[in-house]
Amino acid sequence: MQDNTRTISMSQFEQEVYSGLTASPKYLSSKYFYDEKGDKIFQDIMAMPEYYLTNCEYDIFENHKSDIIKLFTQESKSFNLIELGAGDGKKTKILLKHLTASHIDFKYLPIDISQNALDQLEKSLQIEMPTLQTETLQGTYLETLERINSLRDTKKVILFLGSNVGNLMHQQAVSFLQQVQESMKEDDLFFVGFDQKKHPQTILDAYNDKSGITEAFNKNILIRINKELKANFIPDKFLHWETYDPETGTAKSFLVSKEEQLVNLQDLDLTVSFKQWESIHTEISQKYDDEIVSWLADRSGLKIVAQFSDHKKYYKNYAFKKI
Ligand code: AVI
Repeated sequence: MQDNTRTISMSQFEQEVYSGLTASPKYLSSKYFYDEKGDKIFQDIMAMPEYYLTNCEYDIFENHKSDIIKLFTQESKSFNLIELGAGDGKKTKILLKHLTASHIDFKYLPIDISQNALDQLEKSLQIEMPTLQTETLQGTYLETLERINSLRDTKKVILFLGSNVGNLMHQQAVSFLQQVQESMKEDDLFFVGFDQKKHPQTILDAYNDKSGITEAFNKNILIRINKELKANFIPDKFLHWETYDPETGTAKSFLVSKEEQLVNLQDLDLTVSFKQWESIHTEISQKYDDEIVSWLADRSGLKIVAQFSDHKKYYKNYAFKKI
């Protein structure tokens, strides 16, 4: 791995897995959870009763759709509705149906890293809302933000739902929000879901379900590394472990080695040794309150112009404008 030619030819996935598993403490990025199998397990997570986030956002959309649409259409009657990380678009369809039923002139631009997810979404939209104008965009948030920049003429409403922002550490979140801010004009809106601080047990249960779905989701990263980098992780030799710190609002997922072991990653020419109880940090799921969201907005050149909460006050959608 000291050989430069080899380093240069490594994919981003290979480089990040190499850096994470040779670091101390070890880590892997949660963005690698989402291969085809991971996408499917995440759908199962969203359907779990413990994973309250999805239902909370449904609740907000169902109960506040008229006010939300009023906000979207405030300054101009036509706009582009851009969704970052659209996935199956299930929640967004509540708004899309309401917008089409109200004969509002808009175009829906779902963006996702997974072409498969976009194809399925497009197909279902053609059946459910045949008159809806749609254009799917495949790519990472950063690539697609550049494309969004080229849509400067029509008003933009940018959606970032599901508390996806929570998978970024504050510094990363600020730089992401700043980049979106730079792509916005005065009247554009940025509509973002932020899961709120609540009873710590409710949060722990959402990320540590008894049925083992979240455990399978976390361990899927090892299975993916086995498949894509010819490695020999034995997932059963790792524990899924979740923590929540009520002071910082940070939920963290780990994989903890149950025993001393060696794992070989053939494609990386790497053998990783694990001590018993050594961890791999795999994900953060940040929880927020108004103070943290205001702080993030401030640092990103954004101001909060509206906010909507579910009945239990577990989750909030904030609408931002450029300062
Ligand atoms: C996609 N993201 C917002 C989810 C979350 O809540 O952090 C991913 C997830 N991880 C475990 N369960 C769900």
